[in-house]
Amino acid sequence: MAFDTILRGGTIATASDTFACDIGIRDGRIAALGEKLGDAKDIVDVTGKLLLPGGIDSHVHIAQPSGPGIVMADDFALATRSAAFGGNTMVLPFAMQQKGESLREVVAAYHKKAEGRCYIDVSFHLIIADASDAVLGQELPALVHDGYTSFKVFMTYEGLALSDMEMLNVMSVARETGALVMVHAENYDAIRFLTDRLERAGKTAPHYHAASRPIPVEREATHRAISLAEIVDVPVMIVHVSNRAAMEEIRRAQQRGLKVYGETCPQYLLLTEKDLEGLNMEGTKYVCSPPPRDKESQQACWEGLQQGVFSLFSSDHCPFRYDDPQGKMNPKGRTSFRWVPNGIPGVETRLPILFSEGVSKGRITLNDFVALTSTNHAKTYGLYPRKGTIAVGGDADIAIWDPQRKVTISQSLMHGGSDYTPYEGIDVTGWPVSTMVRGQFVVRDGKLVGKENAGAYVARGKSDLARPAGTQTAGR
Ligand code: URP
Ligand code: ZN
Ligand code: ZN
Repeated sequence: MAFDTILRGGTIATASDTFACDIGIRDGRIAALGEKLGDAKDIVDVTGKLLLPGGIDSHVHIAQPSGPGIVMADDFALATRSAAFGGNTMVLPFAMQQKGESLREVVAAYHKKAEGRCYIDVSFHLIIADASDAVLGQELPALVHDGYTSFKVFMTYEGLALSDMEMLNVMSVARETGALVMVHAENYDAIRFLTDRLERAGKTAPHYHAASRPIPVEREATHRAISLAEIVDVPVMIVHVSNRAAMEEIRRAQQRGLKVYGETCPQYLLLTEKDLEGLNMEGTKYVCSPPPRDKESQQACWEGLQQGVFSLFSSDHCPFRYDDPQGKMNPKGRTSFRWVPNGIPGVETRLPILFSEGVSKGRITLNDFVALTSTNHAKTYGLYPRKGTIAVGGDADIAIWDPQRKVTISQSLMHGGSDYTPYEGIDVTGWPVSTMVRGQFVVRDGKLVGKENAGAYVARGKSDLARPAGTQTAGR
């Protein structure tokens, strides 16, 4: 038998090309692209379907500690099952350090949580909360060497926010080791000042979350993060950008030739701060940071995607249950927006939303869609060309996509641990019907066929963005 599987009759789309072609898969890899490939154990008719590189969601939070009494809705099994149904073949969650913790021990603990519990492939970014000499001098460089080649720093959040000095020190390690720094850009002191003022005025309902972190909070921090990165001369990825002012900061930096990159997310294309005004506590369902803004900000985020200011479209999946004292409705959260856990589910809906709102509605091309949801993630985080494209020699990570299928997004269709989707009732055109990871179906014709231990941990190379020009990834 020439192949284990042949996908026959489909149309392949990569970040650069769209062409009708069969795919021959052997030993988990793409072994041939062509016509009349011969025989296989499993010949799958995919006539009328698109064959896309599996989605890579490079910004998800899974099983992270989220404060006293609060529990995330997904463990690794739930999150990766949900991701697979959404057409993803790999996710990159965070291994989050807390003050005083050893990074090595944190990484070991997250591996333990994920081990044998993933339906799709997984790799970890680090979150640096304790930028001590020992962490920056020893643990971090050693971890980068071992394939943890990206780390996120926070400019806000109690216990996570780094000072400018700490940011500079982390960025210096990234420069020395060739790692990529991801930045959550919001001004911590401004948020605390505004939150205190709102609470003193009795303004504690969920929608005041948006008022506590207005656009200047994000714009200022974005500008500062870019300036710090410029001072150190290191590439930087500004994550979950929500509005025009922050987007324009990134664009200006790019126009000045700086290696500054941007990511946006579905919530900034589809939600607005009005969603936080839901009756009773319904608004908590949309509490995330930065908060959803307004229609003009949505338009700006589209322009960022269309004009290449943003190279990544990620979910920032960070699910909590709504009707749950360990989730959005925790007793303290009822007293003030300050205590509502930040984050919303989205790993399963990211691809259908961008396909429908972007490709089906003519805002972006199919090839842009592939770049924004898969290829650029692989290049940015040291996975390309093993992941993120459909090419001979690469992993057979494939989403089989029905471009015509019309679906109304509903919680009843979701496969994660949350009890709501923020996108309830939104109509989409285009839906993933099957997802294959390294040649094995995880979801086939809408049914779960994969096993909870099918996903593997993938150690990563250096980011293409952190390499000197001319030394981009080549080969596996
Ligand atoms: O509200 C959000 N985005 N929660 C997830 C954590 C983060 O900052 O990305
Ligand atoms: Zn963040
Ligand atoms: Zn996040």
